[in-house]
Amino acid sequence: MDAHEKGYFTEETSVEVVTGRNANAKDERLKEVMEVITRKLHEAVKELEPTQDEWMEAILFLTRTGQMCNEWRQEFILLSDVLGVSMLVDAINNRKPSGASESTVLGPFHVADAPELPMGANICLDSKGEDMVIEGRILDTEGKPIAGAVIDVWQANDEGFYDVQQKGIQPDFNLRGVFRTGPDGHYWFRAVKPKYYPIPDDGPVGQLLGHLGRHPYRPAHLHYIIKADGFETLVTHIFDPDDPYIHSDAVFGVKESLLARFDKKHEPDRAAGYGFTGDFWEVRHDFVLAPIRPGGA
Ligand code: BEZ
Ligand code: FE
Repeated sequence: MDAHEKGYFTEETSVEVVTGRNANAKDERLKEVMEVITRKLHEAVKELEPTQDEWMEAILFLTRTGQMCNEWRQEFILLSDVLGVSMLVDAINNRKPSGASESTVLGPFHVADAPELPMGANICLDSKGEDMVIEGRILDTEGKPIAGAVIDVWQANDEGFYDVQQKGIQPDFNLRGVFRTGPDGHYWFRAVKPKYYPIPDDGPVGQLLGHLGRHPYRPAHLHYIIKADGFETLVTHIFDPDDPYIHSDAVFGVKESLLARFDKKHEPDRAAGYGFTGDFWEVRHDFVLAPIRPGGA
């Protein structure tokens, strides 16, 4: 009998020996997950042949990643984001029918209890930044308007910070709001032009990006969560197509269909109607919601 037949652990038998131990797992899905992860991980180790020091470096990296996590900071999600895993999980779970708007990452800066505001409200509470008016329609895949859609929006300010990152500097709920569509499915609100910003990069994930010669920036965007009865919830962004980081988002969240139109307007009468003092940006973007599929949520 050779080592394989006796069930000893060797370089050759490593995967079968480890996964074989899980034969009595109570949860079939857990067993499958561990089988695939063990196989892929052993394959990577066999290909890379790390030294003991390199393996310890990897362990310490993961240790620091865990130690960085607290109520406000989730360094493992950032790791998943910069590895493209968050976007991959999002893509797998949000295969949309043709014509429906695409999803992208939620990100860490959503706040659950932002105020519901009248349509057209200005979500910029500190008058800082370049004025912007955003409008569009919430439609179904047949192009019909969706009434009663709830649109939760949030964005960074003109310096690239969310209100929750600048407590005491920005007003609470600055650049956030919830709007509800009427029968025409139309939405509009006022805000300021967002700016690109770095993902939190003062931890191990930021260091990793530095070592890899990567920048931590996300191109300027507005976040949306759109909910309506009978439709799949859409978690997405719209992006400024002229942003310097539009082709190198640190978390791979950009999709072509999410590039909005940002037009600079010199229209003093319209500006006055919006309560703006000079030129402003106009952004138009429609969203198409997918119907709930049988068995879906
Ligand atoms: C965001 O867009 O808010 C975001 C997404 C992923 C990581 C960090 C921030
Ligand atoms: Fe963001």
